This record gives sequence, structure tokens and C-alpha cells, in this order.
Amino acid sequence: MYKKLTSEDYITSSIIRFGSHKRYIQEKLLVDFFAVKGNLKIAEYLNKYIQQHLSEFQSKSRIRILDVGPAIGALTTMLVLQELDKFGLMDKAQVYLIDVSERVINSTQNLDFFYPKTILDVSLKARIFKKLKSSKAIIQSAESMPFKTNFFDIVLAGFLFHHLHDSIKPVVASEIERTIRKEGLIAIAEEWFEDYKKDYAHEHIGDEIPLAFESIIKMEDMIALFKDIDVKIQSNSEDIPKENYYYFCAEKK
Ligand SMILES: C[S@@+](CC[C@H](N)C(=O)[O-])C[C@H]1O[C@@H](n2cnc3c(N)ncnc32)[C@H](O)[C@@H]1O
Repeated sequence: MYKKLTSEDYITSSIIRFGSHKRYIQEKLLVDFFAVKGNLKIAEYLNKYIQQHLSEFQSKSRIRILDVGPAIGALTTMLVLQELDKFGLMDKAQVYLIDVSERVINSTQNLDFFYPKTILDVSLKARIFKKLKSSKAIIQSAESMPFKTNFFDIVLAGFLFHHLHDSIKPVVASEIERTIRKEGLIAIAEEWFEDYKKDYAHEHIGDEIPLAFESIIKMEDMIALFKDIDVKIQSNSEDIPKENYYYFCAEKK
């Protein structure tokens, strides 16, 4: 029998299990590499996106990046900063973080995690860390974001949505759409297991930490949560069941 969980349990377990421990990035690299691939795909597309919008980015004094649910280390943001640097744009970046977990925010800003040098250039470490240290961070659920409309140039949500209850997924999607500027980039990565309910949940049934709240959502349904976007790239549907993740990048219309 499954333990009946309250919504508080869901949030707590989700944070403990995914995102709020120092070795989160290492575990992704060693155990859940499929999830790192999602972050890498976002970075790869960002490179193309910057090329297409280069003069616009060059003329800006600030490039505002929001990472929704960054987990300790804000991996997607670090990869995005690395891409910006290839165009000489990293110094213009202002990073914003929003996460329900105080531990996530504190450890990220205090740089209390290991730098993943297999996927990030070690010569960028000091500058990337400086950006995380000076990030503007909010500790609250992403259902309501205390940011102005059309504020961000880039909004990232890596492996966040399956930790959100189905009832709040559309609310978070609409907050992302509200806060990104026109033609700004929304980049989402998510996990996908065809047999999630059957196997994954059973494997974790006896865990001391209650089963993390997970409610995975199909890529098509996930894209449909956003009402006013133009999808520029997305996972190939046939690959998703083999790869266990999907991603898409979109611009706000
Ligand atoms: C699996 S981690 C994803 C980390 C990272 N973005 C990545 O791509 O690996 C999920 C993160 O979402 C955060 N989170 C969970 N529910 C949230 C909510 N309602 N609002 C904001 N953050 C939330 C967790 O604390 C955790 O940091």
C-alpha cells in the first residue's frame, strides 16, 4: 500500500530527493545522465537562438535569465552562461532564481556544490560562480512570480514540471509566459517514463523518504499548457521512450 501523502509531503519529498542535496548535479551526471542530456539540449539550442538574435543581444545592457526550480547548482543556468560566453555576452547576464526550497537557493548562492567540469569549461568557473553568487533569488512556489510582465529574455525550467501538481502546472506555465518578453526564449526539459506508474513508483515504495511527488506529463500536453508560444525545436516523439526525457524551446509570440 502507498502511504497517503499530503501536499506538504509531496513538496518536501520532492525537494529532498531531487534538488536540495549538494550532490544533485553529480548524481545526474553519474546516475541519471538522461536528465543532463535535457539540459545540454537546451544549451545547444540556445547557441542557435543567440546566433539568430545576436545584434539584439549585443545592443542590450542586461540579459535577464530566470531559472525556475534550479536545484542546488542551477545546472541549466550554468550551461546557458557558458553559451552566452561564446558570444562575449556572459558579463551582461543577470541571473534570477525561484525555488520553493531555501536550501536550494542558499547553497546555490553560497556555491556549496561541485562544479561539473566534464560539461562546463573549468576556465569559466570563477565567472560563472560570480553570476550565481550575485543572482537575485526568490524562495517561493513558481505559481506566482514576483516579476514584471515581459521582464525576462530567457526562462528555463529543467525537470521542474513533473514535480508540480497537475492543478498548478498551467498556472506556472502562464507565469512563465507572462514574465518572458516577446520573442524571449522559453526552454523546458522533462523526464518521461512510459512505465512510470508500474515500475518507478514500486521501486520506491519502501523508501524512508516518502515517494517524491511526481506527475509526469507528455510533451504534447506540456506544450499545450503554453498558450502563446512558437515552438522552435522539440524532441522527436519516437526518441522520447528510449531517451526518457524530452525538451522543447519556444519563443513567446
Ligand atoms: C528535479 S529538480 C530540477 C533541477 C534543475 N532545474 C535541473 O534541470 O536539473 C526540481 C527543482 O524544482 C524545485 N521545485 C519543486 N516544486 C517547486 C515549485 N512549486 N516552485 C518552484 N520550485 C519548485 C525543487 O526544489 C528543485 O530545486
